Amino acid sequence: MTTDVNWWKDAVLYELYVRAFRDADGDGHGDLRGALERLDYVRDLGVDVLWLLPLSPSPLRDDGYDVSDYLSIHPDYGTLDDLRALLDGAHARGLKVITDLVMNHTSSDHPWFQASRRREDGKDDWYVWSDDDTKYAEARVIFTDTESSNWSWDAVRGQYYWHRFFHHQPDLNYDNPDVRATMLDVIRFWLELGVDGFRLDAIPYLYQREGTNCENLTETHAFLKEVRAFVERIKPGAFLLGEVNQWPDDTLPYFGDGFDEIPLLFHFPVMPRLWKALAEGSAEPIRWILERTPAIPPSCQWVVFLRNHDELTLEMVTDEERAFMYAHYAPEPVMRLNVGIRRRLAPLCDFDRPRIELLHSLLMTLPGTPILYYGDEIGMGDDLNLPDRNGVRTPMQWNDSPGAGFSSADVTYAPLLSDPMSGPARVNVAAAERDPESLLNWVRRLIATRKARAALGGGNFAMLPSPDPALAVFLSTSEHDAVVAVHNLAAEPRQTSLAVPALAGRQLRLGFGGRLAQGGTVGQEALADELPVALGAHGYAWWWADGSDA
Ligand code: NOJ
Repeated sequence: MTTDVNWWKDAVLYELYVRAFRDADGDGHGDLRGALERLDYVRDLGVDVLWLLPLSPSPLRDDGYDVSDYLSIHPDYGTLDDLRALLDGAHARGLKVITDLVMNHTSSDHPWFQASRRREDGKDDWYVWSDDDTKYAEARVIFTDTESSNWSWDAVRGQYYWHRFFHHQPDLNYDNPDVRATMLDVIRFWLELGVDGFRLDAIPYLYQREGTNCENLTETHAFLKEVRAFVERIKPGAFLLGEVNQWPDDTLPYFGDGFDEIPLLFHFPVMPRLWKALAEGSAEPIRWILERTPAIPPSCQWVVFLRNHDELTLEMVTDEERAFMYAHYAPEPVMRLNVGIRRRLAPLCDFDRPRIELLHSLLMTLPGTPILYYGDEIGMGDDLNLPDRNGVRTPMQWNDSPGAGFSSADVTYAPLLSDPMSGPARVNVAAAERDPESLLNWVRRLIATRKARAALGGGNFAMLPSPDPALAVFLSTSEHDAVVAVHNLAAEPRQTSLAVPALAGRQLRLGFGGRLAQGGTVGQEALADELPVALGAHGYAWWWADGSDA
């Protein structure tokens, strides 16, 4: 494990849902051995870090985010030895692996909760119990479609218990020192087993205090600082990525001083604005949120994404923006879930390659470490007939055989997609590999291009003024590199010229692009003082200063 604290800045992540990836033992569920069989594919994508969704035993009422035993592996997935084998395989290929750590809550099936509801085993106050359901009234309900309160009645104990998510996911009581110590033991267990870090689920909600919204509390920050120090002692430089779905100003404190809290945090509010910008044909939503994104400690990093295993969350937008997003991207009620949209990337783009590429081009040139969600690299679709978020978690499509190369079982944990636009007959890895112009091969080139530019990822970032509101112009600079990425959000061609004063007098080369209109070709050179923009609908062009100091 490297101790270079900045190694993650240039990384690209891949979110891998083990159940969906590859079923090695033929029981219809993807497993760790299956993921091991497919590591070459992941390596060849060019990514550096795999984020594995929860692996622990669970009744699966929230797909493993309802943990019933923190120290082993769900039998569907295999064994701890299978995970060791996967970690070895990944490390041998230069890949790092992080797992989900669900600290905020357990499953109600967890023996801790079972003991707590019976006041047994010293577990009396391992959860948040109350005689009435009126406390902490200012805390919002997150899963609005299924829960009406953060309190549920437990007939066994004769009290209410607190939960920020599903009622079967009681929140642990972090005021209890035994809970804190036990969670640190859990962290030690996985780090010593060989994982390279964690994606920390739902961390804003660890504590509750009357008169607050029970999010981002001082006590929560104090415990996360304890977590960071503990992790650094065991595995210096471990990858800790916090799921903090908040406005940038409320997220900033989670970075701490840069070394004492969480080094990587998702930038949630930028995500819906990329989609909104695309829908409106205007770069303004992106500018709006970036202007409201404070500087972060130099040792830290935002993590950006287009889609993930959840609904496309619309928590961090205004009511008006949410209405616009629903009308544009989720016209049918079945497409909506909680405060979001339960669709995958390709269908959200109407399977339109230019829009898919443009979003990825933005993702790879924004400040931060990008994450790709499994299947999006081949343009997989979704299944709106499946409940909750399951429609975006269907089996990976490796080929067009009956089990799509995912499984030999007749019945799989979720059906393969049958949609002609995005089912395995049309969309699969084998076909994509044969076609040099496929989305998959384009994504590979995109990642390779991003990784070759020192200015992207670890560099300094600015969104430049643009003569045309349809254009998002990003400047990234590092000691020996400079990249100007121009994105046309509009569905019509754009022709103009740009001045990049920070690079005045410098010769730039158009190194990477798509939908370049007449007058724009890869390889062309121009002065940064008058950079020609000739982009077709949803086109993009990355200019860079080859090998010279920026
Ligand atoms: C966030 C996870 O991404 C989501 O899938 C889960 O349902 C909630 N946390 C609760 O753990």
